[in-house]
Amino acid sequence: MGKRPDVTLRRAALSDFDFFLAVKSGTSDIYWTGHEAPPEREVLREFFVTQLGSATRTVFICEADGEPVGYLYLDTTSDDSYDIGYSILDRLHGRGLGSGMIRALLSLPEIASGSWTVAAWILERNLASRSIVLANGFAATAELRMVSVPLEEREEPQRKYVWRHGG
Ligand SMILES: CC(C)(COP(=O)(O)OP(=O)(O)OC[C@H]1O[C@@H](n2cnc3c(N)ncnc32)[C@H](O)[C@@H]1OP(=O)(O)O)[C@@H](O)C(=O)NCCC(=O)NCCS
Repeated sequence: MGKRPDVTLRRAALSDFDFFLAVKSGTSDIYWTGHEAPPEREVLREFFVTQLGSATRTVFICEADGEPVGYLYLDTTSDDSYDIGYSILDRLHGRGLGSGMIRALLSLPEIASGSWTVAAWILERNLASRSIVLANGFAATAELRMVSVPLEEREEPQRKYVWRHGG
């Protein structure tokens, strides 16, 4: 797999649950998405089923070389804007998959056409997450919000990064 691996996105299905559980049980997902411990299988399954039926969230599975490597949430926040959330399997970090996932997202017909704004809220310390959005044309804004980081037992600032159709 090169540094610019080809990542594709497809809509998640219930049959992706074991893979989703594997990603959500990874140390970095737990830490950076604001949890304290790995999820309980049945609790996460209920959450996953709810997400699949959500009117405002689409769950994508990211694939490379025909294998699932991560997930991405695409949340409609208004008529013309989306928020995103994502993770790549721990053991595959640092190979360009995260950046490829964002590239694939921005190439989706529903994003590439129209006048969408895509926002990512990223903890100031999450340098890998910041890198993958900045590498794909997002810009840092001045907007900050405080969120809980349970494993540090404190709140920390998240910055909003925004991509606009047409730059
Ligand atoms: C964020 C995440 C998706 C990135 O996935 P990835 O496949 O490792 O991403 P890539 O390999 O495409 O790129 C990682 C980039 O971050 C950089 N990076 C990684 N750790 C870093 C660190 N500690 N300091 C500085 N840069 C760092 C890498 O050098 C690379 O940048 P480069 O392409 O300019 O060399 C992955 O780390 C992840 O799943 N994290 C846990 C969940 C998470 O943080 N979600 C986002 C919440 S906002």
